[in-house]
Amino acid sequence: MHSLVETLRSLRGGRLKGCRMNGRTCEHVLEFLQSLIAVVFVVALLSMLFSCSTLSDGDGSTVARPSSEAVSFETEIKPIFEDRCVMCHNGHVAAGDLNLLTKDLAFRRSSNGPFFVPGSPERSKIFRMVRLADDEPGAMPPTGHALSDQELETIKQWITKGADWPAGEAGYLRPTSDMRWRSR
Ligand code: HEC
Repeated sequence: MHSLVETLRSLRGGRLKGCRMNGRTCEHVLEFLQSLIAVVFVVALLSMLFSCSTLSDGDGSTVARPSSEAVSFETEIKPIFEDRCVMCHNGHVAAGDLNLLTKDLAFRRSSNGPFFVPGSPERSKIFRMVRLADDEPGAMPPTGHALSDQELETIKQWITKGADWPAGEAGYLRPTSDMRWRSR
């Protein structure tokens, strides 16, 4: 690319005086070609940047976990939901139709859902919403910073592997923040 531009430049430097193409001087044609190359170059650069950014949040290549390893609901998923979601999604506050206190509540059929589609993060509303950037409408959580790439990847893999959510105490979620304001 660079040497092509150089060649064009040296051609303009005198050797084409008097030459004409389609009624224009060759210098004009070359000038046009040069700006065309510049535009193509910028477009190529932008598309490269764009594909890099979609790659890094898309395929999770940044995460060290071997894909065969299961995600633990209790030690990996539950803390994320408890820290970042359950203070709003617990059936007491009107936060859409999503209640994250237990698997049965979270997986309930809803006309707004489905929230969880085991095996398919893309079809799981919950994943589509947590993945949105802070300034996009519908991003979850709506306040505070978005989940980290690592947390997103953990949720994605957990859903891909079947969104296993145990019954009983292990699967019962409580918000980690203060809940007192809600009972008033
Ligand atoms: C500060 C309160 C708050 C927090 C924290 C929060 N949400 Fe929400 N969420 C809401 C509200 C309010 C709505 C309803 C938005 C609307 O209807 O426009 C909602 C809607 C949703 C919906 C769609 C529900 C529906 O019925 O369509 C999903 C899915 C969701 N949130 C997931 C999450 C997840 C996952 C987290 C944690 C990472 C989270 N939210 C954290 C307040 C919150």
